[in-house]
Amino acid sequence: MTKVAVWCRHFGDNIIGIGDSIPWRVPSDLKKFGRIVAGQNMVVGRKTYETLPPKFDKEKIFVLSNQTEYETRHPQHQVVTNPKLFKDVTEDLYICGGAGIYNLFVGSGNKLMPDIIVDCVYQGDMQELDGQPADISEAVAVMQKQYRQIGTIYEEDNVTTAIYIKQGNFVEQQVLKHIINAIANI
Ligand SMILES: NC(=O)c1ccc[n+]([C@@H]2O[C@H](COP(=O)([O-])OP(=O)(O)OC[C@H]3O[C@@H](n4cnc5c(N)ncnc54)[C@H](OP(=O)(O)O)[C@@H]3O)[C@@H](O)[C@H]2O)c1
Repeated sequence: MTKVAVWCRHFGDNIIGIGDSIPWRVPSDLKKFGRIVAGQNMVVGRKTYETLPPKFDKEKIFVLSNQTEYETRHPQHQVVTNPKLFKDVTEDLYICGGAGIYNLFVGSGNKLMPDIIVDCVYQGDMQELDGQPADISEAVAVMQKQYRQIGTIYEEDNVTTAIYIKQGNFVEQQVLKHIINAIANI
């Protein structure tokens, strides 16, 4: 099993969302995200799940929630109340936020840590929105210490994308190829 985290954070402050929205609109970045997760197993927090557009409904999604009775909107989507259960999953997992989930996986220092991080950084202005900022500084600090950047940095519409690999981890070449092709839109 390969674990991949994919995020788009704001340059400088590592904010990924405000309230239940992403405070910028970059359609090419959303399309790239769609290509990366297409046909994969996604892991999201319950709040992010509720903001996912219907086009993701066809994907297999694990929704982290403490609510045992939480009802997902599609039979392919499954509630997980204990993140430790992911240690036993054999299929690849794509960790897709929000902040609580990135900080949980990347900051965990245990077997849940992703093998690969797709680090998208938006350099433009943020919209002013109401709500709590979702900040992933904790996860970014771990990435900068315990991961190494590989290959090219891709740039499109004010977003730079780099791939990081956990130091000392073996990385499945097929997974890496899938991610590079999705980023470069090959
Ligand atoms: N820019 C990006 O790349 C990106 C990606 C994804 C999301 N976002 C943004 O991030 C924001 C949402 O992030 P968020 O951090 O507020 O919420 P979140 O991580 O999406 O969801 C938090 C919820 O996940 C559940 N949860 C968290 N840790 C858990 C654990 N250890 N065990 C069981 N359940 C757990 C809880 O659900 P219950 O309350 O049901 O118990 C918790 O309230 C939105 O603004 C969204 O747009 C941005």
